[in-house]
Amino acid sequence: MENIPPQRILVVDDEQDIRTMLKILLTKEGYIVDTASGGFEALEKIKETFYPLIVSDIRMPDLSGLELLKKVQEISPSSLMILVTAYASNETAIEGMKHGAYDYITKPFKIDEIKIVIKNALERQLLKEENLKLKQKLSSSIQDLGIIGSSKLMRQLMDLVVRVSKTRTPILITGESGTGKEIIAKTIHQLQNPESPFVPVNCGGIPENLLESELFGYKKGAFTGANTDKAGLFETAHGGILFLDEIGELPLSLQVKLLRVLQDQTFRRLGDNRDIKVDVQIISATNRIIEKEVAEKRFREDLFFRLNVIRIHVPPLRERREDIPLLLEYFIKKFSKKYNSTGIKISSYILKELENYDFPGNVRELENMVERAVALQDSNIILPDIYKSQTFESIDQPTPPFYSCEFPEGGLDLPALLEDVEKSYLSEALQRCHGKKMEAAHLVGMTFRSFRYKVEKYRLE
Ligand SMILES: Nc1ncnc2c1ncn2[C@@H]1O[C@H](COP(=O)(O)OP(=O)(O)OP(=O)(O)O)[C@@H](O)[C@H]1O
Ligand SMILES: [Mg+2]
Repeated sequence: MENIPPQRILVVDDEQDIRTMLKILLTKEGYIVDTASGGFEALEKIKETFYPLIVSDIRMPDLSGLELLKKVQEISPSSLMILVTAYASNETAIEGMKHGAYDYITKPFKIDEIKIVIKNALERQLLKEENLKLKQKLSSSIQDLGIIGSSKLMRQLMDLVVRVSKTRTPILITGESGTGKEIIAKTIHQLQNPESPFVPVNCGGIPENLLESELFGYKKGAFTGANTDKAGLFETAHGGILFLDEIGELPLSLQVKLLRVLQDQTFRRLGDNRDIKVDVQIISATNRIIEKEVAEKRFREDLFFRLNVIRIHVPPLRERREDIPLLLEYFIKKFSKKYNSTGIKISSYILKELENYDFPGNVRELENMVERAVALQDSNIILPDIYKSQTFESIDQPTPPFYSCEFPEGGLDLPALLEDVEKSYLSEALQRCHGKKMEAAHLVGMTFRSFRYKVEKYRLE
């Protein structure tokens, strides 16, 4: 925290001696200190100047410290306030803390205490500003590109993405299917140089012989059907990025050829004997456990080392559940725009279920879920199928004994039986929704009023 400009403090006290004393003390500590002799004068100053820190006496004739605190929170909500109190009225100080004062100091002053409390407060302000700046920086760079996430894991990942986008070394992106490997590769490209080519190749989706000519190109007559010279994707990607997706699927024969390109940055078109030199950054991705592929000899170790210079591992969604609400919100907005519809609302019950769901298909699964729900305007659809079968569908189709109609010998008391059934479903619904009647009513297909009525009738709470 060196080289920071001096911070401004406003001292508010109706006693001249105290104002002077605090001003001298704090100026010596390197702060810029303004003073006000009462609450109203303080307000005037706060309207004109931003004070990261305001130190105010509690008992003042015109406006009390607590009243001033309230006003400050309206006019200058990011200012911190420290209250000054005499021993006798400590309770008011605590009251002030409850209402958002940052701290309090007691009179008579202990010099060290003042210094420490004020230093802490201002450091906290700086930290707040730093965080804000960092957030703004992140949001302008990465979030605009559509990578959503505020979990610690995602923030670390974004940090890494920003750093690696400054280099041209090979990057290997690993992670389960649907975690966002491709979107990260694209983001690196955007951060690096959006004007340069970004050439994606799906190594798993193209037959081996075709893939080779796709990557390296060919000379006219290299094979039947090669009627003209053709540049390969390596040439197309010159100056930019070649994104080798599903690299784990690359056949061994092509692994050798790729290795050669990485070693010398040169290659030949099929049927040609001229070396072509290119400047291409290789970003590869796989959802396989690549180390296992290497250990089991399905992937060449030497190639692995070449590709794995920088490693980006994208964690599965279930390891960063804090991102789920953000992603939901983002996709609801996105698809509402696409389908030109009003967004759907997700009840806190469903949100909780989703936050506990493991998402084996990761972000892609969540995205598809939201798209379906928005397209059909039905927020229930958003529940993963396994939950639906446990909740809604099972209630649509109650299981026996109700339908099996086993008739007891002497007949039965149907109203009483139905009441029992009703009672057990209502109380189960309440439990599942943690006592939230609105959601529980929804779960059993009742209106809130009639649900509440029954709950009271059966004394279920
Ligand atoms: N953090 C994120 N923010 C916003 N959208 C995301 C995020 N992560 C993934 N997505 C979206 O989820 C979908 C799947 O992501 P992507 O295609 O990048 O996954 P992948 O890891 O390449 O999956 P696979 O291994 O199956 O190819 C895409 O539509 C992508 O835009
Ligand atoms: Mg992918």
